[in-house]
Amino acid sequence: MELMRITPRQLFIKSSSLINTRIIFNRCITSQQVFTRENKYGAHNYHPLKVAINRAEGVYMWDVEGKRYYDFLSAYSAVNQGHCHPRIYKALIEQAKNLTLTSRAFYSDVLGEFEEYITNLFGYDKWLPMNTGVEGGETACKLARRWGYDVKKIPNNQAKIIFAEGNFWGRTMSAISSSTDPTSYAGFGPFMPGFEIVPYDDLLALENALKDSNVAAFMVEPIQGEAGVVVPKDGYLKKTRELCTKYNVLWIADEVQTGLARTGKRLAVDHEHVKPDILILGKALSGGYYPVSGVLANDNIMLCIKPGEHGSTYGGNPLGCKIALEALKVLEEENMADNADKMGKILRDELNKLPKNIVTLVRGKGLLNAIVINENIDAMKICIEMKNNGLLAKPTHGHIIRLAPPLVINEIQIKQAASIITNTILNHSNIL
Ligand SMILES: Cc1ncc(COP(=O)(O)O)c(C=O)c1O
Repeated sequence: MELMRITPRQLFIKSSSLINTRIIFNRCITSQQVFTRENKYGAHNYHPLKVAINRAEGVYMWDVEGKRYYDFLSAYSAVNQGHCHPRIYKALIEQAKNLTLTSRAFYSDVLGEFEEYITNLFGYDKWLPMNTGVEGGETACKLARRWGYDVKKIPNNQAKIIFAEGNFWGRTMSAISSSTDPTSYAGFGPFMPGFEIVPYDDLLALENALKDSNVAAFMVEPIQGEAGVVVPKDGYLKKTRELCTKYNVLWIADEVQTGLARTGKRLAVDHEHVKPDILILGKALSGGYYPVSGVLANDNIMLCIKPGEHGSTYGGNPLGCKIALEALKVLEEENMADNADKMGKILRDELNKLPKNIVTLVRGKGLLNAIVINENIDAMKICIEMKNNGLLAKPTHGHIIRLAPPLVINEIQIKQAASIITNTILNHSNIL
């Protein structure tokens, strides 16, 4: 009787008649009705797996018919803390009663509290708040250009930013201008000038590019998430740091997906004990409750931007700050990086037992993992089968399936989930 299952938190939620109505309403709606309605009234800019989610808790999600699934996507690594984490929920409710938005026209008593915490935690002078990951990337690029002109003395309008092939940092015009994936950029030109591409994980090509004195920054993901969890060779990040320092170029690390305990360390750059000049964070910064992003940098970079030159109405709002403060404390105090490290090893060990003619490669760090499926096999079909067997994941780039559960997953759960994946792949009759 999964349909009747109700958690203590839901009982609490039931006290709100508005939400109560939604729960009752959603119990009456079928998955097919959900698909039909979204398809009719929503833009067709996504191709979702056909599952209609109604609620979630920890590592689980339930569809409108009450069927339970393991979430192995975590909203693209935005719910590292697990769905509906009670501490973050409490912080949201408490702050929402009091003050939600001031805009940056005024001070609030919350923004500074959050800024103090996050700058101390990561060891930077200042935080510049935004909302979505892509805005964090935009902010980093603007900071780098301004630093390029003011500090490096690049001639006006000549600043260049280098990106790695296969990068993904969102869908704005700037983000797609640096993309090498035609699905992202084709049909949307003209593109942002001053962006150049080097191959990922290629230090020789990077060094050649950095020699150009008009280069202000190199922006890179420590592990490329959307490209299919592409892990660079050991030493790539350390050498990147050295090269950027040598050529007086800012190193921007996009840790929107890899950051915040996902890869088994607080940051993915921590695996090589290096520190970027500009660090972009987003997604799990708010544990799935609310869009919060931003960048960290020291004063010599951050203070290049003056009042009125950059901002966002919602960026740094008190509600988002309180949520993010608690979301970060939860990650730290509940040792989620350690758990991601341990559970990731178990997962990869299990997946590595699969036949190599089907799963050609298992890769990842912590709980950011992917299996590369034989190109003759339809990875989408495998994901549909996994869904039928109670686990949700999605293919990226055709034959790669990303496996990234919330970091609260325990040993029993990770083994159970691994056996769903394994059995689905082994029993899938049409896969070869
Ligand atoms: C590495 C990276 N940067 C930036 C973004 C963009 O984040 P958002 O979708 O919140 O704009 C993403 C999204 O997947 C990402 O993976």
